[in-house]
Amino acid sequence: MDKDFLWGSATASYQCEGAYDVDEKAASIWDVYLHERGLENGDVASDHYHFYKEDIKQMAEGGQNSYRFSLSWPRIIKDREGHVNEKGIAFYRDLMKTCLEYGIKPFVTIYHWDLPQYYEDIGGWLNKQTCYGYERYAEVCFEVFHDLVKDWVTFNEPKYFTASGYLIGNYPPGHNDPYEFILAAYNVMYASALGVRAFRKGGYDGQIGIVHSFAPVNGVDDSLKTKIAMRFADNYANNWILDTAAKGEIPFDLLCVLNERYDLSFMKKEELQVIKENTVDFLGLNYYSHMLVRPYSEGETSLVVNNSGAGGKNTVIIKGWFEQIFDLPDAQYNEWGTQIYPKGLQKGLKEAYERYHLPIYITENGIGIREDVSVEMVDDQERIDFMNDHISAMLNAMEEGVDVRGYFAWSSFDLYSWKNGMAKRYGLVAVDEDLRRKPKKSYYWYRDMIASGAKSIDRKHWDE
Ligand code: NOJ
Repeated sequence: MDKDFLWGSATASYQCEGAYDVDEKAASIWDVYLHERGLENGDVASDHYHFYKEDIKQMAEGGQNSYRFSLSWPRIIKDREGHVNEKGIAFYRDLMKTCLEYGIKPFVTIYHWDLPQYYEDIGGWLNKQTCYGYERYAEVCFEVFHDLVKDWVTFNEPKYFTASGYLIGNYPPGHNDPYEFILAAYNVMYASALGVRAFRKGGYDGQIGIVHSFAPVNGVDDSLKTKIAMRFADNYANNWILDTAAKGEIPFDLLCVLNERYDLSFMKKEELQVIKENTVDFLGLNYYSHMLVRPYSEGETSLVVNNSGAGGKNTVIIKGWFEQIFDLPDAQYNEWGTQIYPKGLQKGLKEAYERYHLPIYITENGIGIREDVSVEMVDDQERIDFMNDHISAMLNAMEEGVDVRGYFAWSSFDLYSWKNGMAKRYGLVAVDEDLRRKPKKSYYWYRDMIASGAKSIDRKHWDE
């Protein structure tokens, strides 16, 4: 392995920091949405706000050389007038310095879903003011952290949070409206380009990318109908983020189809020009599974998400476009109905590299499991097998010429998993009820794998 290859792990501000109302932090949409509904929340989460020194030390002892985390916008900017919260800045500067002291590269996401409520109050991602607010927030981040951070991400998973918030309705703001989804998605991609532009204007040292919830698409057969369904699915799941961020172009066939049903006049010529001129330096791909599709047959559009872990599958059917299916004979699933499919990562990496020719980081990969963390050491062989096979897929793709520069396990330690709460655990380190940190078996496995230069991976090869 190249000595500069990043082996790390990842978290996100709302999911791990806790301290939701201290040191003048403003409320985020997640604080308000979960409090109003009385749902399990991240008020305390893993309390990384107070434990970050211990957590980062543990990453370093686990052989990791990079930490991917996000900044909380409402912790840094107090209001829509843009007043900066010096306490929030001091917290992140200290966290970043701690990383550097331990030889850990901070890999920083500017936005991982915790929109300040003061922007939701004026329509959130449906309002272009939020894009300009994001731009100012990103400028502040570059200005105050650029001496400590060289690797930046504009947004984490635009598809996931806009679809969940505006189409499926299981995330804040909890709406079900396809038009709102399209508008929010566009605004987020525009804001991302504004962030890239601010980074370039400032002339900062380093690189900036975007992170996508990557779902490589497969079809049930190689008929023309299936290929068309696959293209629809790819446009829905991947291309509107990756094409837009990497090439500066929203897929034209997608625009044509949307234009038949929706008024797209909110996409202004000058904004499309900003998107065109401000493409990213790298792609961050979060990989959990692929998407198997067949041609659309009947029924209404339906998007089902399993937040219960009771075995149901996450399925997408888009009327007239495609249907996602789950009937592979030997397929394995986690308890939340996500198929475990390492082979998809190899194929997806090759496809993404062929299409965009940009360096790639696997910015998340991991498995959610229900675990008893009262024991001294969680024996998570299932997670080890999962990581082994996915790292194997990544190594195969690299041998085939794909420029992968880093791998981040999701997650560094147990944290709040959005609507799945603390029941769905992903950490390499357990965080128990008393917030005690206890490395799992996978933490040691990962440490030893990194030390071996990935030679200890039990390599797998799959037929095409
Ligand atoms: C993607 C998201 O970025 C992260 O916030 C989430 O918890 C994980 N996937 C696991 O679902």
